[in-house]
Amino acid sequence: MSNKEIFEESKKYMPGGVNSPVRAYRDMGIDPPVMKSGKGVILTDEDGKDYIDFVLAWGPMILGHSNEDVVTAIKEISESAIAFGTPTDLELKMSKFLCEEMDNVEMVRFVNSGTEATMSAIKLARGYTGKNKIIKFAGCYHGHFDGFLVEAGSGVLTEGIAGCLGIPNDSIKNTLVGVYNDMEQVRSLFEAYGDDIAAVIIEPVAGNMGVVKAEDEFMETLRVLCDEYGSLLIFDEVMSGFRVAYKGAQSLFNVKPDLITYAKIIGGGLPCGLYGGRRDIMEKLSPVGGVYQAGTMSGNPVVMAAGMATLNILKANQGIYDHINKLGEKLQNGIEDIAREKGIKLTVNRVGGMMTVFFTDRNPVRTYEDAKSCDLEMFRKYFLHMNKNGFNIPQSQFESMFLSAVHTEEHIDKFLETFKRFQP
Ligand SMILES: Cc1ncc(COP(=O)(O)O)c(C=O)c1O
Repeated sequence: MSNKEIFEESKKYMPGGVNSPVRAYRDMGIDPPVMKSGKGVILTDEDGKDYIDFVLAWGPMILGHSNEDVVTAIKEISESAIAFGTPTDLELKMSKFLCEEMDNVEMVRFVNSGTEATMSAIKLARGYTGKNKIIKFAGCYHGHFDGFLVEAGSGVLTEGIAGCLGIPNDSIKNTLVGVYNDMEQVRSLFEAYGDDIAAVIIEPVAGNMGVVKAEDEFMETLRVLCDEYGSLLIFDEVMSGFRVAYKGAQSLFNVKPDLITYAKIIGGGLPCGLYGGRRDIMEKLSPVGGVYQAGTMSGNPVVMAAGMATLNILKANQGIYDHINKLGEKLQNGIEDIAREKGIKLTVNRVGGMMTVFFTDRNPVRTYEDAKSCDLEMFRKYFLHMNKNGFNIPQSQFESMFLSAVHTEEHIDKFLETFKRFQP
């Protein structure tokens, strides 16, 4: 069947034809490609059209699609271990690796997605502190948990959903919304509600309002406020972990989180999430402590094997991050030069291999309000041009493009040649 036939029929069986809203491309006014296969950075859809991929399954595929070592690890483990529901040696290997390699991670708990990781981290923070409220920042997305779907950027914004139906007011009454990179506003939230704030959760490098990096002083202020008021600081590194640097976004700041969440890359492309951090906090988790959180599939052997294969490659080849950064710089400079020549106003925000093109004369784009004020119609035209010409890029300005270990200078040159032909 063709892309179109599959997508039309899918709509009969899955709302909007998809299992996650951003896949539907509704805001772009076209049907999405239905992907059939991926190898390296090339995706092929059901019509046989190839795309150079800059989405990488929304982040996980940092080694490119179907990396040989990851495929072998999955094949080998599935001969003897698919799911047991008991402890396994692979879980020990993965958790030990993460505690040894990641700063500020003394213990971990595996789950099955980023959403599960962040919502569990919040419950743990509440259990540990005995407090109720959380601060999240406008434009940061932490998954589809009720308490997070307030000013959540990304798909919630792109799909035109104002917050979300089906969430009782009671579920969000403890969610305070901070303004990213605005120290004074966060300070005023603490002054008003400080006695009852369990945690501040933040994407230190936000990817869900487009790429926006937190400012050093802002992050330092969050730490000071959390210490002053007895609240926990949670870094959501679901997207940025093992992505913006081997040691993640936390390595870009001089600030220690109490808890960190990971997903995407650590599962090697399979469903995986994790939260971890200070031992005294993690030991509040059941069965040791009183915060109950469980999962039939958590720490699944096949997922652990794919994740371990991926992380071993990254550890042994940390030059991958220099490669990605170099390509990112070339892509960013190229786009900026072409835009200048063509008189197109844009700002490129990039941190390592995470990057967003904002069509705006605002430079820098440093808050959610900045991101929302950009020319989204221009972004749509840019998306349609790149997509038509065989580039898989995010279908929303409120997302990040990603680079991988297997992108080459040639892929960047092709991108730039195509962008040069963009007629807004
Ligand atoms: C920063 C961040 N946190 C949490 C999530 C939710 O992860 P998942 O989609 O695996 O539930 C995402 C997803 O994109 C994310 O980018």
